[in-house]
Amino acid sequence: MIKENLSDTGGIAISSIAFAQTLVAWQKQHGRHSLPWQNTRNAYRIWLSEIMLQQTQVTTVIPYYSRFLERFPDVSALANAQQDEVMAYWSGLGYYSRARNLHRCAQIVVEEYEGIFPSDPVLLEDLPGIGRSTAAAIAVFSSGVRAAILDGNVVRVFSRIFGIAEQPGDRKAKEKLWHLAYELLPESDLEAYTQGLMDLGATVCVRSRPDCSICPFSGSCVALAENRIDELPAKKTKKVSPSRKTVMMVLLSDGDVLLEKRPETGIWGGLLSLPECELPEDAGNEEIAELSRLKSMASSFGQATSFQFLEPFIHVFSHFRLHITPCLIGLDSRQLRAEEEKYVWYDMNRLDEAPLPAPVRKLLNGSLRQQVLKLVD
Ligand code: ADE
Repeated sequence: MIKENLSDTGGIAISSIAFAQTLVAWQKQHGRHSLPWQNTRNAYRIWLSEIMLQQTQVTTVIPYYSRFLERFPDVSALANAQQDEVMAYWSGLGYYSRARNLHRCAQIVVEEYEGIFPSDPVLLEDLPGIGRSTAAAIAVFSSGVRAAILDGNVVRVFSRIFGIAEQPGDRKAKEKLWHLAYELLPESDLEAYTQGLMDLGATVCVRSRPDCSICPFSGSCVALAENRIDELPAKKTKKVSPSRKTVMMVLLSDGDVLLEKRPETGIWGGLLSLPECELPEDAGNEEIAELSRLKSMASSFGQATSFQFLEPFIHVFSHFRLHITPCLIGLDSRQLRAEEEKYVWYDMNRLDEAPLPAPVRKLLNGSLRQQVLKLVD
C-alpha cells in the first residue's frame, strides 16, 4: 500500500515506495558491503552475527566472530560443545545469557531441524535468544524473506525521519513503529533495504551529532526540518542506577586461584568468577577493611595467611553499578568445601581458557597477575 504521507506532522511527505527506493540506492552506493557476515547465505553464520551484534558494536564483534567460527565452524560443532567452552569463547562480549541461549538454540536446530535453520521468521522467533527483529534479520539475510526489522538504530532512524515523538518504549509507540516498519517494506531488494536501515543508523543517523549533510533523507526528515534531532527519539525518563558493593576474593594456593561457578541466571550466569563477600551499599572503607566476615569466608577454603586489599574499581552494568574491592588472600593449606561443586581451583597459567567475566579477566591478567606470580614464586 502506498501511503502518501507517513510522517506525524503532515509537514513533510515521503511515500513508502520513495523511502525504500532511496534507501536501497543509498545502501548500494554508500553502505557496508564487506563485513565478515555479509556476502553469504549461510544461516548459521548470519544467526551468530546477529546474536553477537545485539547490544554490541560491529568493531567489538568482529574478532570474537572470527575466533568463534574457527572453533565452532557449524551448528553441529556448537551444539556438541561443552557449555563452559562456549562461554569461554564469549567471555568479554557481555550479556552472557546470549551465549547460553546460543548454545541451546544450536542444540534445538540440530535436534528438531536436522541442523538447518528455518527461514520462516515465526519459527525463528520461537528459538532461544531470537526476538522479533533478530528473526527478521536472519530470515532476510539468509533467505531474502520479506520481513521487518526494528532494533534501536532503526527506531532512531524512523523516529527522526517521520517525526515520531512518543517514547519508543511505550507499548502503543512500539506498535506504531512496528506497523510503520511493515508499511515501508519494499517488494524486492530486501537485503539491501534491511542492510540500508542498519547502515544508516550506524554510520549517519547516529545517536549524537548525526551527519545530516550526507543523509539521503535530509530533504524529507521531520526532525531535521523542525530542528528536533536531539529530541528524537524521545528519551526514557532516567532512573538513577542503583549500586552494589562487593569484595572479590582472590584466594591463592600453589599457583591456583579459587573460582566459583555463577548461577545460570543473573549477572555473569554460567561463567566462572571470583568468590565474593557482598557488602551493604553504604559500607565505608573501614567496614570493607574489617576482616571478620572475609576471614570466616576464607577459612572455609583453607588456612589464610595474608590479606591484601587492592585498588577498588567500578564495573557498570546496564541496570546497576558494581563497586569492586579485590582482596588478595594467600592460603597455606587448602580445602574445597566438599559439598559445593561450584568451586574449582584453577591453574593461574591456564586462565586464558576459563570463561571469565571481562572485569575479572582484566583483574587477573593485569597488575594483579604480577603480584600473584611474585607471591607464588
Ligand atoms: N547490527 C545488527 N545486525 C547487523 C548487521 N547484519 N550488520 C551490521 N550491523 C548490524
